[in-house]
Amino acid sequence: MFFQTENLDNIKVFDIVSNDFRYAKALNSFGIDFYNHYDLTIDQVCKEKGLSTDSIYGYRVAMDESFDLDLKTLESSPLNLVIEYLKHNHSYFIKNKLPYIKSLISSLSLENKKYKFFNDLKFIFPLFYEDFVDHILEEEKYIFSYIQKLYHLEDSNKSHARMFFEMKKISLKNIAKEHLEEDSEMAGIRGLTSDYSYQNIENLHLKVIFQELEAFDKELDIHSVIENKILFPRALDLEKSVADKIRNISFLN
Ligand SMILES: [Fe+2]
Ligand SMILES: [Fe+2]
Repeated sequence: MFFQTENLDNIKVFDIVSNDFRYAKALNSFGIDFYNHYDLTIDQVCKEKGLSTDSIYGYRVAMDESFDLDLKTLESSPLNLVIEYLKHNHSYFIKNKLPYIKSLISSLSLENKKYKFFNDLKFIFPLFYEDFVDHILEEEKYIFSYIQKLYHLEDSNKSHARMFFEMKKISLKNIAKEHLEEDSEMAGIRGLTSDYSYQNIENLHLKVIFQELEAFDKELDIHSVIENKILFPRALDLEKSVADKIRNISFLN
């Protein structure tokens, strides 16, 4: 069933979120926890909060207007723009997406114990969160900053010498290989939730969590493809040309 936006006012929160889980996020952005308002209509929850229902619809529609760059555009973009784009992804994951999923999981009521993975999910998610934040911090602090130094290398003997020593400290080739071969941080959650199969889950709160995790996993996959197929190969080419240049200079001197 697809609801027309102009007919939404009198639909109950439970029904609208069952039909489209992203409404849970739209409501959350206005400070409304969908799982505490199942029986109220959208109009009623908005009145309670002093909001216009249009704000909720507007937010939901805006969620579909993607600002993502496609792979083709990124392939032909300068390397520093690719890095800025990846950093923008990181900050969206850490500041928006993951805190929302975390709050959905921690507010899940423990009364409902009929799902065997219920406690496991509560246990495993913070561990995944920690691993994921470490991954991002390492990329930004060491890898991206190294590639940016290669990209912005000035044409002077002093900066070439400095770069020469930087290059000795890091093996971009190994990092790229490890990044390509490592399992997604989501592998554990994928296994636990049997690939996010929510078809037999009646509990709407849990179903929304599964749908959010699945959507996040897809976003993360695209992010890794950009790193593996665009960032690392181009950074390795750049590193090689910088190394050649430095070698030629030292040979000439
Ligand atoms: Fe990343
Ligand atoms: Fe990564």
